[in-house]
Amino acid sequence: MKVLFLDQSGKLGGAELCLADIAEHFKQTSLVGVFDEGTFPQYLRQLEIPVKIFNKQTLQVQKASSLLAGLKSLNQLIPLAAAIAQCSRQYDLIYANTQKALVVGALSSLLSRRPLVYHLHDIVSPEHFSRINRRIIITLANRAVLIIANSQASRDAFIQAGGRADCVHVVYNGFRSEDYANSIDSAAQRQLRSEVLSLDSNQSDDTSFIVGHFSRLSPWKGQHVLIEALQYCPENVTALLVGDALFGEQDYVQQLRQQVKSLKLENRVKFLGFRSDIPQLMSACDLVAHTSTAPEPFGRVIVEAMLCGTPVVAAAAGGAIELVDPGRTGWLTPPGDAKALAEVITTCQNQPDWANVVADQAKAQAVRRFNLETVNADIARLLGNIKQQKR
Ligand code: UDP
Ligand code: GLC
Repeated sequence: MKVLFLDQSGKLGGAELCLADIAEHFKQTSLVGVFDEGTFPQYLRQLEIPVKIFNKQTLQVQKASSLLAGLKSLNQLIPLAAAIAQCSRQYDLIYANTQKALVVGALSSLLSRRPLVYHLHDIVSPEHFSRINRRIIITLANRAVLIIANSQASRDAFIQAGGRADCVHVVYNGFRSEDYANSIDSAAQRQLRSEVLSLDSNQSDDTSFIVGHFSRLSPWKGQHVLIEALQYCPENVTALLVGDALFGEQDYVQQLRQQVKSLKLENRVKFLGFRSDIPQLMSACDLVAHTSTAPEPFGRVIVEAMLCGTPVVAAAAGGAIELVDPGRTGWLTPPGDAKALAEVITTCQNQPDWANVVADQAKAQAVRRFNLETVNADIARLLGNIKQQKR
């Protein structure tokens, strides 16, 4: 199977990490086309996945603004689509992984008559997209022969927005559980905790309860909810904010720092920026909190925490509801509800044995449910069906 994967982003977000795992499976015969240089193509090269940068200038469109703005710059879009169409003639199909990749991919597919596949990583709802963007996504995605939705929630929102139900298949993200389990021994874990808590070497009394938050800094990822929750938690509860503002959300970063200052939480909130040692950091945390204020399409961080054996609390909306069985494999709290989040944090702190039992159950289930090999086999089967239909 020869696949031309397309992704608009040069940055390494969840959709790109998911694509890298799929593309690795097809790397002998496939190519990943990216519209911008950056950490994502660098990551692909490290994995020896063939990658090609199709355009050095990023299409300047924010998610909340109109995709039309991108379409208007036709003098940029048409040569890009023509170049991709030309390249796609050597492949069996075009696999678009993001919305702008869908726009360009749909046009290229029209030109080269290669079938279009869309991997839907988003919830196409008013909370995430303007009306015009929803309409563009649905119209173009309905031209695809196959849509792979990253959760039932993403699938349902797509259909509710007018998407075709007959082409959509839900495939969860897959993970290599061995990358997460036992990624760090207990001595290294103690060392990492001291480092992130900025304890000096003669301060061996780490009595902190560390709540980790692993997401790009963005208003809908809700880091502010965790900061707010800290006020209602015991003094030794500390929050680690791991992640960067990937898409220029500098105002939100300022807002978070201001919030920390005005609540006098400077000693209890640590901004770690973007990190590549996620399994180690998650394993060193006592609890992982996911706090998105809008429905999360899937939520890789929730599964990653489970695979590390760290208890996880998530915001009860979107894909997170499919991932967490409350009280059995984690906890769910209403999105934006800082007091409810504080209650779960305090319960996990006071009842570590229970929290560990829940985390163990979550880990056992996640290893089975989100196995990368199974996911890649499912995707290969779905793509294989398209090739057969063409014959
Ligand atoms: N992540 C990372 N470094 C960071 C913060 C996050 O590698 O500093 C990873 C995280 O482990 C996860 C992904 O980024 O695999 C985020 O994916 P998720 O589906 O949770 O959210 P997204 O940002 O894609 O909406
Ligand atoms: C997107 C979504 C996230 C999901 C990821 C992988 O980035 O925002 O929820 O986990 O794609 O499918």
